[in-house]
Amino acid sequence: MELPVTRCVCMQLEFADLRRLASAMDMDFEALRAWSGCCTGCGTCEPYVRLMLETGATAFAVLSPEDAADVMSRGRAGTPPDEKGPPGQAAP
Ligand code: FES
Repeated sequence: MELPVTRCVCMQLEFADLRRLASAMDMDFEALRAWSGCCTGCGTCEPYVRLMLETGATAFAVLSPEDAADVMSRGRAGTPPDEKGPPGQAAP
């Protein structure tokens, strides 16, 4: 069993803290990244941070490369998640 993805490892930032920050300061992805430094190391966490902003979830199953690419392209295009919901959301 895999552990859920819950933080930006490079910057040691928990997604729960990032969500609170983004909500309190009404930040989009770019503002959150600039302000907190999340996603500025290896970048592996970027699709998870984008999903966090879309869904409010803070724990995710590891995304497949295809799902991560889908999240990234959706985030860059500003397109909302489809009706099936976002991939990678960990069960509560
Ligand atoms: S895990 Fe967030 S930048 Fe590397």
